[in-house]
Amino acid sequence: MDRNLALEFVRITEAAALSSAKWMGRGDEKKADQAAVDAMRKAFDSVRIDGTVVIGEGERDEAPMLYIGEKVGFKGASDSPAVDIALDPLEGTTICAKGGVGAISVIAAAERNGFLHAPDTYMDKIAVGPACKGLIDIDKSATENIHRVSEALKKQVGDITVVILDRPRHTDLIAEVRKTGARIHLIGDGDVSTAVATGWPDSGIDILIGIGGAPEGVIAAAAMKCLGGDFQGRLKFRNEGEKERALKMGIKDLNKKFTLEDLAKGNVIFCATGITDGPLLDGVKVFPGGRAKTQSIVMRSQTGTIRTIHAHHNFSIKNVI
Ligand code: FBP
Repeated sequence: MDRNLALEFVRITEAAALSSAKWMGRGDEKKADQAAVDAMRKAFDSVRIDGTVVIGEGERDEAPMLYIGEKVGFKGASDSPAVDIALDPLEGTTICAKGGVGAISVIAAAERNGFLHAPDTYMDKIAVGPACKGLIDIDKSATENIHRVSEALKKQVGDITVVILDRPRHTDLIAEVRKTGARIHLIGDGDVSTAVATGWPDSGIDILIGIGGAPEGVIAAAAMKCLGGDFQGRLKFRNEGEKERALKMGIKDLNKKFTLEDLAKGNVIFCATGITDGPLLDGVKVFPGGRAKTQSIVMRSQTGTIRTIHAHHNFSIKNVI
C-alpha cells in the first residue's frame, strides 16, 4: 500500500468527523451517523484505491452506503491498489448524540484479505500497549492479565486502570477487577478509542477487557498492530443465527482465540479523527468565522510511524443543518 494513502485517509475521517460533529449533542444518533456516512462515502471517491469495504455499516440490504462488499475509491483508474477497508464513520453514535467522551471517525486498511471478516456479533477482547505485548492471554483470568500488565509497566496493581464497557454482562468482570485493587474506567460506549488509548502515552489507560462489537475489535486490532501493542479476541454469539452468519462469512472455528495477526494480517494503516474529546483525540472544535479544528492520528504498521495531525478547516455549520 502506498504510504501516501495514509494521509489520504485522514482527509476522509476528517470529513466524516466534521460532518457528524455538527450533530454533536443534538440527541439524534441517526442524523449524526448519517452525516458521517455521507461525508465518508463522498470523500472516498477521490482516493485512488480499488477498495472493498469488509467491515462497514452492515449488509447491503440494511445499509445504503459503505455496506460490506461495497467498492470504494476513485473509479477512473485501472492501476489502483487493491485494498480492504474496515471503517466506522461514527464510532460512538450515542456518545456523539449526547455530547459525551470519545466519539471518533475511523478507517483501517489492509492488503486484500488482510482483515478478519467479522460478523456483526460480539467479541470478548483484551488490549494493551507495546510494553505488554506478548504478555496477555484472553484464556487467563482478568486477575492474571492485570498482574502481568502491572509487572510489565512496573506499576502497583492499584495504579493500573482497566477500561470496561459499562454493561450488565460485565457485572462479574467488574467485581473480579475490583477485587484485584485495580481501578476501573467504566465507559458508556466507544471501545475502539479506549483500546487504542492503552498504547497511547499519557492516556491513563493500561488495559481494556470485556465484550464489545466484533467489527470494532478488528478495527482496534489494526490500530494495536501499528502501535506495537497487543490485542486478542474471541467471538461471542447471542444465538444460532449469529453463528450461521459467522460460518457463512468464512469463520471456521467459532471458538477460536484470534490473535492480532489473525485479525489484521500484513501491512495495515489506521487512521482516526476525534469527533468529541476523548482519551485518544481531541474532538472537533468550531471557531467564529466558519472555521474548525480537528485532531487525527494516522499510523502505518510497516514503518511504525505514528502521526498526529492538527488541521484547521473552513467550516460552515449552515451548510449541513
Ligand atoms: P456504535 O458506534 O455502533 O454505537 O458502537 C458503540 C459501541 O460502544 C462500540 O464501541 C462497542 O464495541 C459496542 O458499541 C458495544 O455494543 P453494545 O452497546 O451492544 O454493548
